[in-house]
Amino acid sequence: MEQAPHSIDELKARIDTARVPQHVAIIMDGNGRWAKQHGEHRIVGHMSGVRSVREALTGASEIGVRYLTLYAFSTENWNRPRTEVEALMDLLVKTVVDEIDELHKNSVRLNAIGDLDSLPENCRRTLNDAIARTATNDRITLTLALSYSARWEIERMVRMVADEVRSGKLDPAAINEASIADHLCTRGMPDPELLIRTSGEQRISNFLLWQIAYAELWFTPVLWPDFRKEHLYEAVLDYQNRERRFGMISEQLPAR
Ligand code: FPP
Repeated sequence: MEQAPHSIDELKARIDTARVPQHVAIIMDGNGRWAKQHGEHRIVGHMSGVRSVREALTGASEIGVRYLTLYAFSTENWNRPRTEVEALMDLLVKTVVDEIDELHKNSVRLNAIGDLDSLPENCRRTLNDAIARTATNDRITLTLALSYSARWEIERMVRMVADEVRSGKLDPAAINEASIADHLCTRGMPDPELLIRTSGEQRISNFLLWQIAYAELWFTPVLWPDFRKEHLYEAVLDYQNRERRFGMISEQLPAR
């Protein structure tokens, strides 16, 4: 297992609680490679990744992150072998069923984005029940991106906007960043300030393309099943050391 270089308390103490990202998004990657390294079937990698989901969620919640969005299943993942897709859907249902009481107790609001109609019926039902049960929780919103891809989301947004223009509900002159964001699955959420990807791959893979326009990107070679709170805290510390200029120059920014 990849060793975290610093103790968790040491890392946590160094985080400036006034500048924690509100929204962290994670591309959870490397379950298959982790399984291979351990001589296990790929699904064992996914099962082991559930612990990392718990670590990321509790870690984020403890430092005051308000939104955590996880890329759990992409539109493209439907092309994986049928047995793996079925096992992933079963794992999702089992995890939600197993964890729902704990999520609720900790005031986690569960949310899902993506083409949810394409999920198997039992998966949709379990998710919808959990989403309804946790709807008024307000400590942190955990969003699972399922059967999601950013191009699917943008295509859907354009169709919705076009329909509203055609029906006279929306004036084309009124289309702007805010109205576009309002037609995305992440409507009402702040954009992620920090995007993490595990497993050493350095690409976005069709995740939240509109929303990450100004996100800081943090890549780690750690495979998702080895991801722990320490890694999240390292990412947040790195984020806090960066200068976010939003196209301006250093001198225009408020002093830190
Ligand atoms: C990427 O690893 C991971 C996935 C496609 C699935 C992520 C799912 C989990 C962590 C399981 C539980 C999640 C929830 C939300 C209950 P990969 O299979 O692409 O790994 P590889 O690139 O090494 O093959």
